[in-house]
Amino acid sequence: MRFIGNHSSGKMGIALAKECRDRGAEVTLVLGPVNLPTEYEGITIITVTSSDEMYNACHDHFKNSDIALMAAAVADYKPETISEQKIKKTDTSVPELKLVKTKDILKSLGAIKGDDQVLLGFALETNNEKANALEKLNSKNADFIVLNSLNDGAAFGSDTNKITIYTKNGEEIKFESKSKSQVAADIIDTVTNYSKTLSI
Ligand code: CTP
Ligand code: CA
Repeated sequence: MRFIGNHSSGKMGIALAKECRDRGAEVTLVLGPVNLPTEYEGITIITVTSSDEMYNACHDHFKNSDIALMAAAVADYKPETISEQKIKKTDTSVPELKLVKTKDILKSLGAIKGDDQVLLGFALETNNEKANALEKLNSKNADFIVLNSLNDGAAFGSDTNKITIYTKNGEEIKFESKSKSQVAADIIDTVTNYSKTLSI
């Protein structure tokens, strides 16, 4: 085994970055390992390959950000140790992989968020969707949680998503199934409607 990751295309994060760029924002995209182009005109890209690198890149840039959109499907666990050398198989035993928790990047940004900063996270759920999304909104101190329902036909890697946005003011805004670029536009419209100080 060489790598543990989450099944994530990166399409949503890229669509959000493009939408913000097209509305005139200065955009930095922290991009994990994806099978997609890693250069986009007018967007500063920081490529990372681990959850720790993503954590550091997000913290480096959050302090100078008006808004942070957290669309990455970050792995929840990582191997406790990483081998520098190839691990040779033995005829007698099978190695046990010890996992430890990764840092929750969204939660850590929520803990340091200033009053004039906007923080948006995603929630991918298969059951108790609303309760779980609201729990994430509160526990991570986010301003918005975008619920991405796997039950509604949205699949990893697919080009369409059906979302519901929960706001910290208690609103629930449901959307039809749409392309990821249209979903990105809906998300930015919602954020700017509720955060009048943002100028995108
Ligand atoms: N997230 C993060 N850092 C992690 C894990 C998740 O910043 N180590 C962020 C995701 O980018 C997303 C939000 O937290 O914006 C919710 O991710 P999700 O996987 O739905 O929830 P978790 O909090 O990881 O809980 P669980 O997987 O148990 O539902
Ligand atoms: Ca998770």
